[in-house]
Amino acid sequence: MNEFYQKDIISIKEFDREKLEKIFASTDKIMQLNSTERRKICKGNTLAYLFYEPSTRTRLSFDSAMASVGGNSLGISDITSSSAQKGESLADTVRIMSIYSDVLVLRHTLDGSSKFAAEVSEKPIINAGSGTEEHPTQAIQDLFTIKKEKKKIDGLKIGIIGDLKYGRTVYSLLHGLGNYDVDVHLISPESLRVRSDSIYEIKKKLSYTESTDIEEYIDELDVLYVTRIQKERFPDEEEYLKVKGSYVVGLDLLKQMKDDSIILHPLPRLDEISTDIDNTKNAKYFEQAEYGKHVRAALLGLILNENGF
Ligand code: CP
Repeated sequence: MNEFYQKDIISIKEFDREKLEKIFASTDKIMQLNSTERRKICKGNTLAYLFYEPSTRTRLSFDSAMASVGGNSLGISDITSSSAQKGESLADTVRIMSIYSDVLVLRHTLDGSSKFAAEVSEKPIINAGSGTEEHPTQAIQDLFTIKKEKKKIDGLKIGIIGDLKYGRTVYSLLHGLGNYDVDVHLISPESLRVRSDSIYEIKKKLSYTESTDIEEYIDELDVLYVTRIQKERFPDEEEYLKVKGSYVVGLDLLKQMKDDSIILHPLPRLDEISTDIDNTKNAKYFEQAEYGKHVRAALLGLILNENGF
């Protein structure tokens, strides 16, 4: 039996290198299949999405991924139009939606929400973002993008810049990178450094430096992963205003980078990457979003087929 069959995806910490490489191989396979072959993979299956926070990429890429493998999707993208508005609990909402579907994709404001949902759901839960904690499928997509664009992950120097305190994609990515031999440079304003409880765990598996200066290692980086300052997670707007616009990646900075370096961003972007960068060969964030659809199609195929595909 395929090891992902009927399994939840709650945290990237559940994925060792071997599992990640299996998902990458399945993603490569999805990308090589023609549309008729792909549509057999999840034919007759239904994905349900339940989003308590806004999303463009994650929700629509799951929707599009499910269609590409022959399944269909239903769900709640605006929680105010659901019975949660009348006070229905997350547990009851999940129980009901798991009756109507084969796999459930959940984004929620609270840390631990997906773990909790998995305890009450009849069907596998995929964490599409839980508070400031994790976004595991984004990290798998990010690692896959690095592997595709740089042809390897081991040996790379990777800068991660921006909001390292509240950005959940950063936490998942750091744990994912912990499976590889990489040097990580964490760059953020002092107040937005990686949270101390997480750095404690990350220290055990990853070699990293911390800095506030984007230029310190810029000429050594193979990958620059840029993140948005997460305004919506600041308890105090004044604190946000102090760090807003701290870093902008523009052409001047790109000139200092290695010719074959790549720039990634989980998106959405505000002003932290200048649009001048978009048409350079180094900008790979739109490709990253596209890979996300294929990675999610592969995950759905693995979760829903006992013997894989
Ligand atoms: N990267 C990401 O999670 O984007 P969305 O918030 O648009 O889903």
